[in-house]
Amino acid sequence: MPPEITCRRVAVAEILPLRHRILRAGLPAETARFQGDDEPGTRHYAATAGDGPLACLTLMPSAWKGRSAWQLRGMATDAAVQRTGLGRRLLEVALAEARCDEPERIFWCNARTTAVGFYERLGWRVVSETFEVPTAGPHVKMVWDAEGVGGSTDAQDRLQACARGGSDGASAGEVAVEPTRPPVAGFIAAELGFLAAAHLLGGPPWVAIGVVAMIGQVVADFRLRPLVGLAPAVGWMVAHQLTGNRELFFPYAMALAAHLAGQFGGRDRTAAAVAGGLVVAAFMGIRVIQDATARVLAVELAVAVAILAAVTVAVPLMDRRPWGAVAVAAVASLAAYAGLAL
Ligand SMILES: CC(C)(COP(=O)(O)OP(=O)(O)OC[C@H]1O[C@@H](n2cnc3c(N)ncnc32)[C@H](O)[C@@H]1OP(=O)(O)O)[C@@H](O)C(=O)NCCC(=O)NCCS
Repeated sequence: MPPEITCRRVAVAEILPLRHRILRAGLPAETARFQGDDEPGTRHYAATAGDGPLACLTLMPSAWKGRSAWQLRGMATDAAVQRTGLGRRLLEVALAEARCDEPERIFWCNARTTAVGFYERLGWRVVSETFEVPTAGPHVKMVWDAEGVGGSTDAQDRLQACARGGSDGASAGEVAVEPTRPPVAGFIAAELGFLAAAHLLGGPPWVAIGVVAMIGQVVADFRLRPLVGLAPAVGWMVAHQLTGNRELFFPYAMALAAHLAGQFGGRDRTAAAVAGGLVVAAFMGIRVIQDATARVLAVELAVAVAILAAVTVAVPLMDRRPWGAVAVAAVASLAAYAGLAL
């Protein structure tokens, strides 16, 4: 059973370490403090599961084009649990509570361009050109108002409870929230399907590398959608089956190494390198068992390390979007294919 996650109002001190880690990494700790943090009207929220905040956000009263509004600031989810639905739940709870108290207020934020997709999924709209924030890169202004936005069942329930007078509004707002459960059955079926294809189209070594990658995938993210990043690896399996070229095992392995690195790349580069490195290590082990010569092993290792280093640099820039994962895996495996000529 995953620990129960609670979304609640907290003191700013509780969320500063998470804010700093996710939004101001590498900068002095004081940069995680925002002007207005300690104002009485400011609200800080955290999603916690025992050991401290996993996601946080702050709402500050701040007019938008003359209208009464909240500015959303410091939205961050711990790298280890991003894309598990936590940010959505916390933001919906905070918005529902704020609307319950003052329905007329709208919401706006300066959003990192890398996070625009997140806000758009929650009904926010981009309302400005891109502009640069020196400490945090390109941003756009986004707004959320009730028009045309349904929100999730959770948020609607909270608003209805509010209308019935059932919310305690600003008094505390502690809400037990079940973490979103990904469709595990579909994920397992897709992983097994991939391994079956590796067995049919490649053979035992292809399955062995596939197993390493699949285990890594479970650790990274057991949702269905990221598995589209396996498409280049499937392509190499098919190409091997059609051509009988056993050398395609190398680009196949590098497609998997790059895919897995991409799954961790949004968190940090070390995790990406370790994840991809495990697939490369499995590949090298199999090549030793296959009696590859020392020269061939040395060339393959050098090419693999160079590709993995490039992937490790590239993946955090790709925003962990599925097309980004496919592109990184495809380019990495094409580079491995080119490396076969060495
Ligand atoms: C952006 C951020 C707060 C999102 O929080 P999260 O907990 O990972 O988001 P969720 O898992 O609740 O995602 C909700 C939906 O948005 C999508 N999403 C999340 N982050 C996204 C992103 N960066 N780009 C596009 N879509 C994204 C999720 O895939 C999910 O989609 P789905 O409902 O179709 O499955 C988090 O990734 C983060 O802390 N990023 C780094 C810091 C940052 O950029 N903060 C925003 C500053 S403006």
